[in-house]
Amino acid sequence: MFDSDEPKISGKEYHIACGPGDVAHYVILPGDPDRTPKISSYWDAVTFKASHREYVTHTGKYKGKDISCTSTGIGGPSLSIAVEELFRIGARTFIRVGTTGAIQEQINVGDLIISSGAVRLDGASKAYVRQEYPAFADLEVTFALIEAAEGLGLPYHVGVTASTDSFYAGQGRPCFNGYDQSWMATLIPDLKKAGVLNFEMESATLFTLTRLYGGRAGAITAVIAQRETGQFKADAGLEGAIRVGNEAVRILSEWDALKERKKKKYVYPSLFSQV
Ligand code: URA
Repeated sequence: MFDSDEPKISGKEYHIACGPGDVAHYVILPGDPDRTPKISSYWDAVTFKASHREYVTHTGKYKGKDISCTSTGIGGPSLSIAVEELFRIGARTFIRVGTTGAIQEQINVGDLIISSGAVRLDGASKAYVRQEYPAFADLEVTFALIEAAEGLGLPYHVGVTASTDSFYAGQGRPCFNGYDQSWMATLIPDLKKAGVLNFEMESATLFTLTRLYGGRAGAITAVIAQRETGQFKADAGLEGAIRVGNEAVRILSEWDALKERKKKKYVYPSLFSQV
């Protein structure tokens, strides 16, 4: 039994099992709990904070900057729980680091995709706000991801992602015993014509929630599936996406310090050249 409508256990958020002071302002969000230690292996200092259900949290320092990582599990519903609870304990800037399936021919397995926005084919974001509300990534987080990918010399693409709640039917894949629906035949061709780059399962929910709650979010995913050619390579490019995510946190925290020094709300190109 909980004594309020904000479920907590011993002062910790019910699902992520973390409380105030356990996480940094900047949080990396992989889906897979096994990726939390992979991401924190690049840090200078790491403290294990919690492991409960699909949510594994580490907090520490990366190149001297405060950083956390919480896995979200697969899909919008479990990500929405993580993001709700992380906001309640002080996190504000989020970077999803995950994997994806590309639907455009020019994108190769192992490339990275930085999502500038997401088609809301999820269900979780619809619980929060009407369907017409846009799911778009924060500009500064997106630029930090681009800066990091350029700095590391990794191949990347920037554009619109489609986020679904279903890996198989929802992304037009063959289902068990040949089950299908007529719209599945037109799903990928229609999204391709609209310039959508890829499918994944969390960014639309993440972008919608962080926008509603006054936070910031971006997403970088590694292409493990090429839906045009049928190629699939588990974890291709993932190491690169992890390095970009960590570097983007360093870059953002430097930009945030610059904004504070200059008393500005946003970064913009000429701010960097002002002394
Ligand atoms: N994640 C997805 O959601 N789809 C893919 O094709 C690959 C990873």
